[in-house]
Amino acid sequence: MRRFRLIVSIALCAFDLDVGAQSLSTTPIDPSLDESKIPGPMGDAIRLGHRLATNTKELAGDYVGNGLACTSCHLDGGTRPYASPWKGVAGVFPEYSARSARVETLGDRINGCFERSMNGKAMPLDDARMIALQSYMGWLSYKMPTGIDAPGRGFAKLAAWKPADADATRGKALYDVKCVACHGADGAGIEAAGTYVFPPLWGPDSFNGGAGMARIGNAAAFIKTNMPKGAENTLTEAEALDIAAYVTKQPRPVFAGKVRDWPSGGKPADAP
Ligand code: HEC
Ligand code: HEC
Repeated sequence: MRRFRLIVSIALCAFDLDVGAQSLSTTPIDPSLDESKIPGPMGDAIRLGHRLATNTKELAGDYVGNGLACTSCHLDGGTRPYASPWKGVAGVFPEYSARSARVETLGDRINGCFERSMNGKAMPLDDARMIALQSYMGWLSYKMPTGIDAPGRGFAKLAAWKPADADATRGKALYDVKCVACHGADGAGIEAAGTYVFPPLWGPDSFNGGAGMARIGNAAAFIKTNMPKGAENTLTEAEALDIAAYVTKQPRPVFAGKVRDWPSGGKPADAP
């Protein structure tokens, strides 16, 4: 049955693209196919990209300055809606970024996360690992729309809120009940055999102050639909905002380049 489905999808693929046998070796970039069976150098790049996303420090340690993996935030290998999924990103970049006030390629955007979310440094755009990450995202984006946001892009949309609504004291009380078991009272997460089973939310091994997750709005939206792990979507938006206020107030690595963000204005109210 599996074999039959595989043959049918390959056949459909070839039919779809209306091209000759030559392209068959490069076209099976179809997420319905088993990732382990994508042939050739393209398959190798896609698989390397997936491994980089989950074992980031191990495979790209020279560009990583904390204990996180890409998939600490881009959940389920970058496929979960409202956890800033990568399905569809290949079709929306290059895209204007108000934060840098320039049109960014997907590679530039990935480097934004290397420098901030991973507290590391930008990877050269021609590094095989940078190409592998984009190959994986391209594979996830197969047949997704181009030029418009895929469903679930970014994070869930919260109802309108003001910074004054978010209360870090209430947030701490909630954190101590809902989050502490995995992320720890000191936010340092739980490490076993050199890797984090539960990633750090603050402190030297977490994302830095220039990261998107360091903004209350982003953190609250992420937390609302994706945490506590195993009981997702059980917090109210107000609770998620309070917890995010507490988490984003905690000490974390400084991002020196932050002073150059939003050079042409448009700085969001919750940017630290
Ligand atoms: C601490 C959490 C965190 C980690 C770790 C992280 N990111 Fe991100 N990433 C974010 C946030 C927050 C955004 C911005 C989402 C938004 O504004 O909608 C983002 C956005 C992105 C985007 C653009 C998505 C879009 O729809 O425009 C890409 C691509 C991306 N990250 C790749 C990576 C890669 C590759 C890594 C690992 C090298 C990584 N990220 C690590 C939090 C993280
Ligand atoms: C049962 C364990 C568990 C609980 C409880 C839990 N988390 Fe997580 N959290 C995780 C894991 C594991 C990840 C990494 C992503 C994954 O594997 O799903 C994560 C990732 C995160 C991240 C992004 C990565 C990082 O380190 O910054 C944030 C932010 C976060 N959790 C916040 C919270 C908050 C706030 C709560 C309480 C409301 C909470 N979590 C409760 C297990 C947990």
